[in-house]
Amino acid sequence: MIIASNFKMNHTRKSTQQFLNQLKEVKTNHTIRVFPPATALFENEIVGVQNGYPAINGSFTGEIGLEQIKEFNIDKILIGHSERRNLLKESQELITKKFEFYKNENFEITYCIGEPLEIRQKGIDEVIKFLKAQLVGIDINYDKLIVAYEPVWAIGTGISATIQEIEETHNKLREFIKSSLLYGGSVKLENIAEICDIENVDGVLIGTASWQVENFIKMINQVKG
Ligand code: 13P
Repeated sequence: MIIASNFKMNHTRKSTQQFLNQLKEVKTNHTIRVFPPATALFENEIVGVQNGYPAINGSFTGEIGLEQIKEFNIDKILIGHSERRNLLKESQELITKKFEFYKNENFEITYCIGEPLEIRQKGIDEVIKFLKAQLVGIDINYDKLIVAYEPVWAIGTGISATIQEIEETHNKLREFIKSSLLYGGSVKLENIAEICDIENVDGVLIGTASWQVENFIKMINQVKG
């Protein structure tokens, strides 16, 4: 299983270092990933970036590019998170450029997709149509691709999608996506084991519940295998 923590805009450099130090002591067969903010990057094989501009360097105020990421020997990136799509208005075109750029650099790309509530309410066919539109221009056969299904309405709400909703959506995604499929959206200590047990769920991408390292470690230990 892949168990990933997305810090979003949480943690400082100091607290991230403490987090990574505590995590180092954990013995697990699972694949662990941590995505700290850009100010708290470390050279560590489990660390990836939450974002990267599709350029080596240049005049892109506020962004970080390949040169800054490579300084930490990082080769893992999150692309397409709904918070960047919705709050920061990242277009599918820009997301596609990021994907191509970091794919050409051989990064492991955790690519996020997820529908808003009004689409979920229209039923599974509309959900899949929406998710497919978020995959336009993305090479879904890229061998270092991980797809994270994160329904927007389940993110940060404390209310995860139901087991049935996750199962049905992942089964449909599996019909055309061969890569690992993660679920994200209010994954917590109480539901992680059950979610990871679902067929076609290959792991989880966790926000809120992962930010306390003790809780993240407990969650990792809940998952079989
Ligand atoms: P929460 O776990 O806080 O719902 O966040 C999920 C998420 O967006 C991970 O990328």
